[in-house]
Amino acid sequence: MTEEWKTWDFDEWADAYDGWVISDDPVYARYDEVLALVVSHANPAPESMILDLGTGTGNLALLLAQKGARVIGLDPSRRMLALAREKGCVDQGIDLCLADRPFLSIPCPDRSFNAVVSTYAFHHVPRPIQPDGIREMVRVLKPGGAWVMGDLIFESAEAERAALERYDWMEDEYFARIEELHPVFTDLGMELSSKQFTPVTWVLWATKPAA
Ligand SMILES: C[S@@+](CC[C@H](N)C(=O)[O-])C[C@H]1O[C@@H](n2cnc3c(N)ncnc32)[C@H](O)[C@@H]1O
Repeated sequence: MTEEWKTWDFDEWADAYDGWVISDDPVYARYDEVLALVVSHANPAPESMILDLGTGTGNLALLLAQKGARVIGLDPSRRMLALAREKGCVDQGIDLCLADRPFLSIPCPDRSFNAVVSTYAFHHVPRPIQPDGIREMVRVLKPGGAWVMGDLIFESAEAERAALERYDWMEDEYFARIEELHPVFTDLGMELSSKQFTPVTWVLWATKPAA
């Protein structure tokens, strides 16, 4: 039997989104610090090419572009991208592109980017196809490039179950589990590192082997 996948109306969320990330909503606790660590591991040197998946209103893309990187942001929501444009992303040289399933089908050749990043978006990708999403992101990374993700993530299925029981503000979404990601990265010859920011938020990173 095929699993019914959840869908969300991201256009409807868009106008409220930037208010949520600065509110006391625990989902976005330490949001700025999460983005800062993603930026640091992405190493946005001038002229480096960085892909931001699920770029939303462009908060991460702007931080990367301000450091001189050339950023492409992909997102399936027209309204999120319209708000990113209003915030000056295009003036900062960021390419914003509408893409249906950005994690699973990246419209770019192999080895295009110095870094592939994403924040608070991967938990919308159904867990059974998350390994395909990881492989697709690594495909477009240059050898030696950085894969970096900040998101609602758990160490294990057990940790996720406990958090969903404990926190009534958590929705049941497709949270990645670090224990399930490790073998995916090992198969790609990469070592996954992680730092926890809140009971439900982590930043993960790994480097693609040099050619
Ligand atoms: C919670 S917002 C995060 C936006 C931004 N990355 C940030 O950190 O503020 C989630 C974003 O992921 C996008 N999104 C939803 N499903 C997606 C998918 N399957 N692939 C890529 N992006 C997706 C939504 O349109 C939305 O803009």
